[in-house]
Amino acid sequence: MTAAITTRSLAKRYGNLTALDEFDLEVTRGGIFGLLGPNGAGKTTLIRILTTLMRPTSGTACIEGFDTASHSREIRRLIGVVPQENSLDRYLTARENLELHARLHEMPVTSYRKRIDELLELFGLAGRQNDFPDSYSGGMQRRLVVARALVHHPRILFLDEPTTGLDPQSRHAVWDYVKSIAGSMTIFLTTHYLEEADQLCERIAIMDHGKLITQGSATELKERLTGGALYEIEFGGNADAFAATLGNLSCIRKLTLEGNRATIELEHWECLSALVAALAGNEIRRISLKERTLEEVFISLTGKGVRE
Ligand SMILES: Nc1ncnc2c1ncn2[C@@H]1O[C@H](COP(=O)(O)OP(=O)(O)OP(=O)(O)O)[C@@H](O)[C@H]1O
Ligand SMILES: [Mg+2]
Repeated sequence: MTAAITTRSLAKRYGNLTALDEFDLEVTRGGIFGLLGPNGAGKTTLIRILTTLMRPTSGTACIEGFDTASHSREIRRLIGVVPQENSLDRYLTARENLELHARLHEMPVTSYRKRIDELLELFGLAGRQNDFPDSYSGGMQRRLVVARALVHHPRILFLDEPTTGLDPQSRHAVWDYVKSIAGSMTIFLTTHYLEEADQLCERIAIMDHGKLITQGSATELKERLTGGALYEIEFGGNADAFAATLGNLSCIRKLTLEGNRATIELEHWECLSALVAALAGNEIRRISLKERTLEEVFISLTGKGVRE
């Protein structure tokens, strides 16, 4: 089966700066795929190439089997794009913005009228359809851009940070729409809201400095980070007394002792029984488990340094 998106040794250089570096990616059809990475990682550059707005320096990118270098017309029919920066026409009303998009895609009036009515309804914009985008809130403008990207029934929807700058209510509204339309198409999105990526995306790729670092489901990524869990044990007395016992366990990756508490990172979950056996007979007040978050995975792979 053809993948929705395939890139092979894709590279993009802006002068001396390598924004994309030998990037290999395959996104299967259907579901929501999340691309994460710090500022300047190369996410928008990749989306620009995949959506035929920019040519790579080298390598290939295919959308539904069509090469972006030679089949941009075919690809543009298949994709919907929500760019990082809003790109609404401020001199057209919301409805006219959608109609212009439909006409650029050569849709017949009879079919686009109905489609636009449906989308305005779905995105909660029907009541304001004759207003200009400048009179919309940021959240409404973003919803309108998503609606516009869907007018021509795309098979793949690219969303570059669709919820940046929105309040929690508007963010949830956008994500709810994205989820509701995800069944029939492939959605490729970037976001800096890692909790949302965790909940929304079936597959996640993390990139930095133009390179793909890792990919998998959110659970797989968390599992790879020390078995996905951090254990905290509260002892009856000072935890230092257990330093030797715990230190002897080979499957403890990291041990921190503080007061009557030990914080333990295990190599993998199977080590837990060895840990429990080693501590048997001692006074333990509490064992708590702290699940790893996608944010911890992200920081552990991309570091704490602030980017551009
Ligand atoms: N037109 C351009 N000319 C020169 N350098 C550019 C250009 N566009 C992007 N870059 C640089 O390429 C790198 C990748 O930028 P890109 O916009 O793809 O990152 P990003 O992952 O989308 O970041 P963000 O999360 O901030 O949106 C950055 O170092 C950026 O400064
Ligand atoms: Mg970007």
